[in-house]
Amino acid sequence: MKSIRIEKGSDNIVHLILDNPNASANVMDGDFTDSLREVVKQLQGEEYRGIILRSAKSTFFAGGDLNGLYAAKREDANEFFRECQALKADLRWLETQGKPVVAAINGAALGGGWELALSCHHRIALDDRKVKIGLPEVTLGLLPGGGGCVRMPRLLGLQNALPYLLEGKQVNPQQALDAGLIHQLASNPEELIDHARAFVIANSESEEPTLQPWDQPGYRMPGGDPRNPKNAQLLAAAPAMLIQKTKGCYPAPEAILSVAVEGAQVDFETATRIESRYFVELACGQVAKNMIGTFWFGLNAIKAGASLPESVRNMKAAPVKKIGVLGAGMMGAGIAYACASKGVEVVLKDVSMAAAEKGKAYTQKSLQKRLDRGRMDQSQMDAVLDRIQPTDSAAALEGCELVIEAVFEERKLKARVTEETEAVLADDALFASNTSTLPITGLAEASRRPPQFIGLHFFSPAEKMPLVEIICGEQTSEETLGRAYAFVLQIGKTPIVVNDSRGFFTSRVFGCFTNEGIAMLGEGVNPATIENAAAQAGFPVGPLAVSDEVSLTLMSKIRQQTIADLEVEGKAAPSHPADKVIDHMLELGRAGKAAGGGFYSYPEGGPKHLWQGLAKEFPQGEQPPFDDVRERLLFAMAVETLRCYEEQVLRSVREANIGSIFGIGFPPWTGGALQYVNQYGPAEFAARARELTSRYGERFHPPALLRQLEESGQQLTDK
Ligand code: NAI
Repeated sequence: MKSIRIEKGSDNIVHLILDNPNASANVMDGDFTDSLREVVKQLQGEEYRGIILRSAKSTFFAGGDLNGLYAAKREDANEFFRECQALKADLRWLETQGKPVVAAINGAALGGGWELALSCHHRIALDDRKVKIGLPEVTLGLLPGGGGCVRMPRLLGLQNALPYLLEGKQVNPQQALDAGLIHQLASNPEELIDHARAFVIANSESEEPTLQPWDQPGYRMPGGDPRNPKNAQLLAAAPAMLIQKTKGCYPAPEAILSVAVEGAQVDFETATRIESRYFVELACGQVAKNMIGTFWFGLNAIKAGASLPESVRNMKAAPVKKIGVLGAGMMGAGIAYACASKGVEVVLKDVSMAAAEKGKAYTQKSLQKRLDRGRMDQSQMDAVLDRIQPTDSAAALEGCELVIEAVFEERKLKARVTEETEAVLADDALFASNTSTLPITGLAEASRRPPQFIGLHFFSPAEKMPLVEIICGEQTSEETLGRAYAFVLQIGKTPIVVNDSRGFFTSRVFGCFTNEGIAMLGEGVNPATIENAAAQAGFPVGPLAVSDEVSLTLMSKIRQQTIADLEVEGKAAPSHPADKVIDHMLELGRAGKAAGGGFYSYPEGGPKHLWQGLAKEFPQGEQPPFDDVRERLLFAMAVETLRCYEEQVLRSVREANIGSIFGIGFPPWTGGALQYVNQYGPAEFAARARELTSRYGERFHPPALLRQLEESGQQLTDK
């Protein structure tokens, strides 16, 4: 099967039509590289005026073949290197064969797709929202290996190219034109091809071959040679600055910087070889496997509903038009913003009109910032605001298809608002609680129709955080789950579905992170070491800093509630060494950031710093190995995630991985909390967990599931 069709018109212009027969998008798979090889061979023996590269799909070209890259093995590295070089030789032929080559970009040109376009002399993009241009490889632990690291610096200069290469920055057609990535815009598909033809015709008249800027005599890299003193200074500091950001956890940005810098100082062919060498190294490495597995395969499976029961997966839920949000506090205000931004009408209810208006003002303020930065226009802002209707009356909720409750974390209050709201809702409306800790089955007792009661757990700030944890109570129906799942996707969030449990999955595992950090402080570990160890493991915030944000009062309240609930069930609440430290901090009046200070001090006008009193309150003894401090944080979360999976609170490995990264800050380089166990090796992980158990406590004890994996030599995978 051919991925590229060749057509030649009476004007003697060759059209290379990208049309992958195996998938809905064009990708750089084996078929494509074979097809390109054939095209090059065929055109070498032909007379033509020029070449137009265009796509028969709605995207121009989606990028690399992630199936192939995911399967790449280190033992095949030499062969892989040769394949990369062969592909790049064909792309190089395109830009050096002398006749004008134009990329007619009708849709997204990402990764390998953009590298293909970069190999053309002239790039024209359709001025349309679906056109995105960029190199997202770094977000999957890879580097642009189809010449992107070589051509981008030569096109834009090293400094301007780095954000695209290192951060995976993506731009729309107008931005691409302004940045010098493309040469022309077209307002419709016909114009796109007309412009492309016009370029070929204009340039094929010339006796001179059409060349890329970097192949022309006297070419100088924009921004100057990387070896000149100004650039040399910047580049000397760049690796250190990068390490500060990546903490050494992410090999891709470091490799990209090396390729871009080394490649900018040598000839084109040598630069290409350097790029292939680093690319193969990354693609065969563990971090790329983790990131591709989770952020590509895992995420796509979630979007397709792979973890849902089949009957739910095939359900076609109608989009929700109107919802109610109860409580216009921190979470309610953010949820209203998130939903209204996606076109959903929101009735935002609080105890008073003033409180409800204040919740709406949160959206107003946030949008104003976007408006000021030119990210939206006034009419778009007004449309979002018009969708939020503040109220203090339950009657205003009539007609809502779904109500999300986000009032205080108090069982009795939640029960009261459930009853009050259901009284005005239609029979088929859903009721969801945003509780972060209370079991859904218990909350559903206040409902007249528990099958339509479900947990929708958003994360703060709700308009930004990508995850929503959907919690099924014992009586939640499959239809309710299907409708809730579709709603979460409708508002552009990523759903994971969990079964009911105290703290569900995310709050439970997140608590292990904060508690472990706090426990170490109580043991006399230097607090700066704890926070640094978290940063070096790749956590976005240290456990002490994040506890201050959450507030120690809230953490203590949740513990008291758990003790009370378990007492009713006749069970003793488990204790944690962090409890004593939290109580002591509360006695000292240091409950966290909102209370004016906690583990950190927050001087007005200055940056926060660890509270100096910690040394006196928690005297430091002999310090444990740094690796123990770092791994205790990772293991505390991973072991609890294993327990959640074993207890079937979690339904799939992919949801554990996505949920732990998107919801609670588990480091992305690991691919998620269960993938961390896989890459560590279940047997090695179990051995290390035993070691930590003997040193620090039973909470590290390997669950039975881990012991089974250890014996069978298997890894955690989804069927
Ligand atoms: P908050 O204290 O900021 O807001 C609660 C709001 O509920 C207040 O504005 C209050 O006036 C309002 N309220 C009280 N009684 C009401 C009633 N009868 N009708 C309507 N509104 C009423 O609390 P926050 O942080 O927004 O939390 C709300 C819920 O979300 C809690 O269940 C919490 O556990 C959960 N949650 C909180 C997260 C967080 O990071 N703060 C994260 C995820 C969930």
